[in-house]
Amino acid sequence: MSNIFNSSAYNEARKRAEDLLKKMTLAEKTGQLSQFGTSIYSDDEQTFSDHFAEGKVGSYLTIKGASHTNSIQRDLLKATRLPIPAFFADDVIHGYRTTFPTPLAQSCSWNPEVTRKTCEISAKEAYRAGIKWTFSPMVDIARDPRWGRIMEGYGEDTYLCSRFSEAAVKGYQGDGEKMEKDHIYACMKHYIAYGACIGGRDYNTSDLSLQTLHDVYLPPFKAGIDAGAATVMASFQDVNGVPSTGNKYLLTDVLRGQLGFNGFVVSDAGGVVELIPHGFAEDLKDAVRLAFDAGCDMIMAGDPYNDFLPKLIEEGKITTEQLDRAVLSVLTLKFLCGLMDEPLVDEEGEDCFFCDEHMTAARTAAEECAVLLENNGILPLTPENYKGKRVALVGSLAGYDGKVHLLGGWSCLSDHNHTVSIEEGLRKALSDCEIVYSRGCGITAADNDNITIAEAVKASAECDVIIAVVGEEAGMSGEANSRSDLTLTGNQHELIESLIATGKPVVLLVASGRPLVLTPYKDKVAAMMLIWQMGSAVGDAVANILAGTVSPSGHLTTSMPVCTGQVPIYYNHTNTGRPALGRWPFESKYRDCQIAPLYPFGYGMSYTTFSFENITVSDNKMAKDGKLTITLTVRNTGNFGGASVVQLYVRDLVGSCVRPVKELKGFEKVFLKSGECKSVTLTLSASDMAFHNFNMEKVIEAGKCKLWISQSSDDEAFEFDFEII
Ligand code: BGC
Repeated sequence: MSNIFNSSAYNEARKRAEDLLKKMTLAEKTGQLSQFGTSIYSDDEQTFSDHFAEGKVGSYLTIKGASHTNSIQRDLLKATRLPIPAFFADDVIHGYRTTFPTPLAQSCSWNPEVTRKTCEISAKEAYRAGIKWTFSPMVDIARDPRWGRIMEGYGEDTYLCSRFSEAAVKGYQGDGEKMEKDHIYACMKHYIAYGACIGGRDYNTSDLSLQTLHDVYLPPFKAGIDAGAATVMASFQDVNGVPSTGNKYLLTDVLRGQLGFNGFVVSDAGGVVELIPHGFAEDLKDAVRLAFDAGCDMIMAGDPYNDFLPKLIEEGKITTEQLDRAVLSVLTLKFLCGLMDEPLVDEEGEDCFFCDEHMTAARTAAEECAVLLENNGILPLTPENYKGKRVALVGSLAGYDGKVHLLGGWSCLSDHNHTVSIEEGLRKALSDCEIVYSRGCGITAADNDNITIAEAVKASAECDVIIAVVGEEAGMSGEANSRSDLTLTGNQHELIESLIATGKPVVLLVASGRPLVLTPYKDKVAAMMLIWQMGSAVGDAVANILAGTVSPSGHLTTSMPVCTGQVPIYYNHTNTGRPALGRWPFESKYRDCQIAPLYPFGYGMSYTTFSFENITVSDNKMAKDGKLTITLTVRNTGNFGGASVVQLYVRDLVGSCVRPVKELKGFEKVFLKSGECKSVTLTLSASDMAFHNFNMEKVIEAGKCKLWISQSSDDEAFEFDFEII
């Protein structure tokens, strides 16, 4: 795949970086590897200018805005001996100012183009604000929804996450070989297996087999690297006992050696210092030695590299070659993106924030992310059917609170004044209905909940249909927001039960950063839809779906648990010798809960129906260097336009290591008008069946396999046997 690293522009940038490197002092070199936060600037002006003068600053995080970054850049260029501009970096996770659905929500679109587009717009807005580098995408596989950071990634599946990983990198950096204006560098994080933290508790240790590490957690990084990802962030936690930040095997042998990464690695904030409490480094100097020697090129937030690398070089513990490799990497990327030639940004460019084009993109992205879980036919509430009817809208997230919380965690510099609330969206989309809004209750318990719930119930009982919006506040997911209980918080359960008790049909909308336990409501509501945290255009997107202008087309990218005790739960697990088949008591199961999730990975309803017709597989034998071609016709057999997601799953039936019961290996989203059909071709390569055996050799083993062409991971309507020969 062509990318920024294999281009003549890169070679030229590298050449210029080499020339510059020759002129640099040791202090200037370590400065290029040091990133600072705002505190240096605001807390201590003296330290800040000393740092400038000594060339100790290579990058900043959290400083943003065209005039702000320009003024700091100007000061820095004036004060330094060698005028090397700083990289301004930021966590642009799902939008800079215009806010898009959370990455987890975006993955439910099963349309990587959604993410390419949202990242492209995010890059443009960030670039206009002086940012040249984002700490995104997060491509951590997350199999445990207790982990709050599940909202930042693309779900539980390796193949799907890999497709979104490359889409995000291309969105941020552009698809060309050069970094054009309005594009910024991506940073894939958190390398690696951060999502495997035990118990879903953030920052906790990860302990997993090397096979799982290589087959499940590494491929999304590989996909982003092939797409040209410029940087990678080391994760905080330890993997099998060695903290990622100081793990030479992972940061050098695997990342650079096996995956072919050519950019630079940045630590996470405090990741180097934390090697001490980990019990891995004796003191800060030792921590710097371990991290830098492992391959962690830049330190986020702080001076330790400036303070200790020169001494470590003098003592021969770090070599000049190691230092120069890291500095060259940073300088090359500074040249490549044009920063060295044009260090300042145009201060007139910020008028694109929240512009119509970006808000429309936010709405269309959001419309593809909602996952319809249940519908007894009540949805859509078409204006024709609901004209003149009374619609109760209940829940704090449907009103003003939703303007803030439905932006989701990590919403950077969003502005809730630009969020369209669900109430606002619905009043527009169902303008012929009477919308009766009541708050019901908040997300956390309040003293007057019994009064406000009673008011909501009274108002709702006089309506024809109830739309209730429940879920999480933005701050309940994201970093350091693990939860031990995935049921609804506060008095939301009581609110829903009371609304159901009115006998009026309830449409439940669940807005959260993570999958929640929705078991009590599944069979009692008329419809249930996950709307996640959809960003600035949430209200319009939700209203368009409810009113039937758009058919929901999202599918789950995480299994939805029946209860918290079921997690971690993921569809692509291996079999045990005693799978839960219900044949006798001694099976791998729970005595108080089913083994299957409430809703499986890949599941999602539409307002229309699809049939997969004339499915053909090119052969029932596949050579170890061969491939199978699967063709089918997808037909929209219902009365609405909509999108079907064709999913290709495989199982290797017998292996030298037990293989997952199912693995996604291909998918395609197909948009079809009512009655329309399209032909779809999917390819399964033998290399898709490769895995690491017990000796850590990557193998494709001969033997019997199955494939399924499905609408969900539990759909086995089309099953095909084939053999690898
Ligand atoms: C997070 C990173 C983030 C960094 C900078 C850390 O605490 O783990 O994901 O990029 O902060 O804000």
